[in-house]
Amino acid sequence: MKIGIAADHGGFELKELIKKSLQDHFEITDFGADSYDAQDDYPDFVQPLAEAVAQNKVERGIAICGSGIGACIVANKIQGVRAALINETYSAHQGVEHDDMNIICIGARVVGDVYAMELIHAFLNAGYTGEERHARRLTKLKNIEDRNTK
Ligand code: RB5
Repeated sequence: MKIGIAADHGGFELKELIKKSLQDHFEITDFGADSYDAQDDYPDFVQPLAEAVAQNKVERGIAICGSGIGACIVANKIQGVRAALINETYSAHQGVEHDDMNIICIGARVVGDVYAMELIHAFLNAGYTGEERHARRLTKLKNIEDRNTK
């Protein structure tokens, strides 16, 4: 599976740890930051990650900032992205299974490194069920997106 990852300074250290942990098992594209810079801005890294997910250049995305909130807000601005801020394992897999979540957003200042890895494993190991009720809701979601995208 091709995975994209991005983080600002709030998530930079966690991003590096996650990359090391996943790189033997997945093809990972790093959308930055390339180095720690306390002045950098999360939209600069999360936007290209979200666009790559929307364009199917990578299958899933991991977006990290201090709280995960800014990353999540930016990611959801891109048509075709279904991103969520995840702090517990149930939602990490259920969000994929029911809602076809394609970007997990994590707050590096909120969850510890080990728990962040558990969230990511739950996210990456889950698959969208495609059940009729979920597909029906996704269609409604896409209609809303289409109506509100110029
Ligand atoms: C950066 O200091 C911090 O504001 C950012 O990483 C994030 O938490 C925003 O949501």
